[in-house]
Amino acid sequence: LITPVILAGGIGTRLWPLSRQAMPKQFLSLLAEQSLLQSTLQRVTGETFQQPIVVCNEAHRFIAQSQAAEVSELTALLLEPAGKNTAPAVALAAHYALQHGITGPLLVMPADHHIANFAPLIDKLSVACELAQQGQLVTFAIDPTEPHTGYGYIKKGPACAPTGCYHVAEFKEKPTLALANHYLQSGEYGWNSGMFLFTAEAYLAELNRFAPKIAECVAKASVFTDDLAFTRPLADALKACPSDSIDYAILERSNNVAVIPVELEWSDVGSFSALSKLAEKDQFANYLASEGVTIDGRNNLLISEAEHSIAALGVSDMAIIHTHDATLVANKSVLDKLPLLLAQLEKTH
Ligand code: GDD
Ligand code: MG
Repeated sequence: LITPVILAGGIGTRLWPLSRQAMPKQFLSLLAEQSLLQSTLQRVTGETFQQPIVVCNEAHRFIAQSQAAEVSELTALLLEPAGKNTAPAVALAAHYALQHGITGPLLVMPADHHIANFAPLIDKLSVACELAQQGQLVTFAIDPTEPHTGYGYIKKGPACAPTGCYHVAEFKEKPTLALANHYLQSGEYGWNSGMFLFTAEAYLAELNRFAPKIAECVAKASVFTDDLAFTRPLADALKACPSDSIDYAILERSNNVAVIPVELEWSDVGSFSALSKLAEKDQFANYLASEGVTIDGRNNLLISEAEHSIAALGVSDMAIIHTHDATLVANKSVLDKLPLLLAQLEKTH
């Protein structure tokens, strides 16, 4: 059996002001009634799966717990006193699994993706498990459609057993635009889906090798205390842990990485442009959520929280996002500068 490990500790700044520190993207219902976390949990309810382990920040424990309770029971809800990115988060789950007799592979999944059709990945799980039993870290690659610089790029190496699996020739996290263009044109690279399958032992062995400081801190932190629905590691040890992602810390460096191409209808809903690609639009390419009205404009993204109307007249290519305490007005073409804007906002407030 496979144990899903769901990473729900990110911030989602590129969806501000919908996604906030108090309510990051994974807890929002962006495209369905359920939140992205809930949709993620529902993908892994079949008989091949154990109950998931969810890892998130202490600050979001109640929202995570109540959202999870609506869709499935958990093996554990692990709380981090501070976000240290994905390499430590996965390591915590791996230690937890080993201490609790969970011997099957772990399927690591981001909590904030939109996946229209998960069946292609389910179909690959048995070969992925074979690879994992050989000690490989298995990645899943998606055909790229644009030179996106927010993803990892995976170059397929020689085929390996079982059929449909490949060694990874190169893993490059978040390349420059020039490099991403080159990867896209070469046809030899896939996007890293952000989902991984491996045994806890194999992951911790690679972590030990390539990020020994993280490995050491998380090992120290992995003395778990249960409190009602929550499970906590030792806070001080985890706070002392360096921060890094699994992609930079391990996948770019390890030789034990395999890849399985999957044809998923997948989006990481990482930004407003990703969101508007997924949403239904009117005949003028406007995406109007809740009370948005636009007249004589094209290609706008108007989103308003309940009970508040946005009316836009004669404007095009704009994102206008209104929430109860913040409003974003931006030209859609410069939305990649949103994190800079937020940094400035934090300074001035
Ligand atoms: N528990 C926990 N703690 N979860 C975290 C933390 C943390 O400190 N930091 C991030 N996460 C969660 C996020 O909520 C998200 O679900 C997942 O881990 C991935 O983190 P992101 O910060 O969203 O990573 P990314 O999107 O920049 O890049 C990753 O995903 C891409 C696909 O969406 C990489 O794996 C890329 O290679 C990949 O292409
Ligand atoms: Mg992401």
